[in-house]
Amino acid sequence: MDKCLICDSEYSPFVDFGFMPIANAFATKEQIKNEYTFPMKVGFCGNCNMVQLVEQPEREKMFHENYAFFSSTSNYMEEHFKLFANSVSELQDLNEDSFVVEVGCNDGILLKNFIINHISCLGVEPSKNVAQVAMEKGIEVITQFFDRPLAERILQSHQKADAILSANVMCHIPYMHSIFDGVKTLLKEDGIFMFEDPYLGEIIEKTSFDQIYDEHVFLFSALSVNYLANMHDLELVNVEPQITHGGSMRYTIAHKGIKKVSQNVVKLIDQEKKLGLDKKQSYLGFTDNINKIKNDLINLLTKLKNDGKKVVAYGATSKSTTVTNYFGITPDLVGCIYDTTPIKQNKLSPGAHIPVLPYDQFRESEPDYVLLFAWNHATEIMKKESDYMANNRHWITYIPNVKVI
Ligand code: SAM
Ligand code: TMP
Repeated sequence: MDKCLICDSEYSPFVDFGFMPIANAFATKEQIKNEYTFPMKVGFCGNCNMVQLVEQPEREKMFHENYAFFSSTSNYMEEHFKLFANSVSELQDLNEDSFVVEVGCNDGILLKNFIINHISCLGVEPSKNVAQVAMEKGIEVITQFFDRPLAERILQSHQKADAILSANVMCHIPYMHSIFDGVKTLLKEDGIFMFEDPYLGEIIEKTSFDQIYDEHVFLFSALSVNYLANMHDLELVNVEPQITHGGSMRYTIAHKGIKKVSQNVVKLIDQEKKLGLDKKQSYLGFTDNINKIKNDLINLLTKLKNDGKKVVAYGATSKSTTVTNYFGITPDLVGCIYDTTPIKQNKLSPGAHIPVLPYDQFRESEPDYVLLFAWNHATEIMKKESDYMANNRHWITYIPNVKVI
């Protein structure tokens, strides 16, 4: 039995992916010789309802000066974070005396919106290469991992925060108690802690198993976040679904008893209980659902290969590392992946070793079929490529099931 990272209860895994590489470890032929892997299993704790990775690689193996994920690669995400900043400003009535902290600010996609409006802010970002891009946008960044000791140091050097924000970062951090203690310390009495992450309810409903990779230690629900907040004398006061990253949830947390708890929280917890997210049995069919997608996709790719069709992939996402490695997708089935991120280009994908090529070469490749690894950006990408794909070319998607479009 394994011990829950949140409440220390014993639990056992419900899905086992075998050994997986680091999802963002795009590497050259030389570097790939010593590729690191870890056993990737996911379990559900029946006491606090947290769904979690059983083992995680050390954080420095994932977040460092060559981190491959840059937030500002999607126009839609730029717009999303602008709206996020505006809604925080409105909710907390932010002005020039206010102070906003973001945990995991990456290249500054969110905080740059506060800078434009002359609201003081601070980013905390341990991956130095992406932090550098944020600094070039005029954002103050501490290039360290956020935790309780760092929150105390920020308090000494700055002030309490009106808002502590985070997107697609909280679910990456196994030492959640140190984070919540840090938030408790750093947050003003009427401050808010808002974070968004891929939502467990959507992952189970859509079988979006590719949201599971080394960085995603937790798959949160209102049930589990509520439990965690209570452990730290904090309170979950609102939840707002987001369409980003294939279905996310934004959680708003405040000091206990300070803000009114929205009906959204009550309703979502009720809905999660109806869906059975608080029961182990509900997770037992997940592996079968993944294996159905696996068989359908591998059969399709094999048939296309035998028919002499050219298949390439679009978007060297972190998620695709789970798909390629668990399904056994090799370069003979999918020739290459096109991606706009310079640091990923002309490297091999983790584990499966599919070449990643610059997006600029996509159209020259004249594929028959394009496997959309960046399915969470489908609307934006399909619109951008609609003219080119209209020419008797097809998309292949696989969440929630395999489809040729
Ligand atoms: N917030 C951005 C977004 O939504 O696009 C970036 C998300 S990216 C997937 C996760 C980021 O969290 C990385 O830039 C990583 O370096 C950072 N990170 C990981 N652990 C952290 C920690 N303990 N404190 C602050 N940032 C952390
Ligand atoms: P994400 O799913 O983790 O946000 O990663 C998206 C990846 O897809 C990232 O490597 C950038 C890439 N991408 C493109 O190549 N073209 C695009 O139009 C978009 C939106 C993303």
